Amino acid sequence: MALRNIVKDPDPLLRKKSRPVETFDKKLHLLLDDMRETMAKNDGVGLAAPQVGILRRAAVVEVGDFYVELVNPEVLESEGEQIDVEGCLSINNYNCYVARPERIKLRAQNRDGEFFELECRDFIARACLHEMDHLDGILFKDKCYAELDFDEEQE
Ligand code: CO
Repeated sequence: MALRNIVKDPDPLLRKKSRPVETFDKKLHLLLDDMRETMAKNDGVGLAAPQVGILRRAAVVEVGDFYVELVNPEVLESEGEQIDVEGCLSINNYNCYVARPERIKLRAQNRDGEFFELECRDFIARACLHEMDHLDGILFKDKCYAELDFDEEQE
């Protein structure tokens, strides 16, 4: 495994729509392993392939003991609303509030191409949706609901 360089905003690569993953081979496994390692090294909770310069629909999310690899993910259902602070490994020194669904049901493929469904809520749902936005060239700052005020940034 190896660390990969993280593409930073405003690199135009982050604004492109990624293509589906079609080949579930060792190269994909290596990419996912590297993405997990790169995310962990940078204290992130999620990383999408375009953030390491690969325009393919793949992302990893790791929140505490929860870890998932999402290949070609799609939202099947969403419900409710939550508003909380987000950040991004591709955007240094910036956070803002983003509104997301409270609960979602996803369908994705794993690293071997097998389909699975995932139901999640709260912060994990937020992290999955943030990463899925990257696959469509959307950054969280595009969805900024409110800026943090100065006092909050100091915490
Ligand atoms: Co991000």
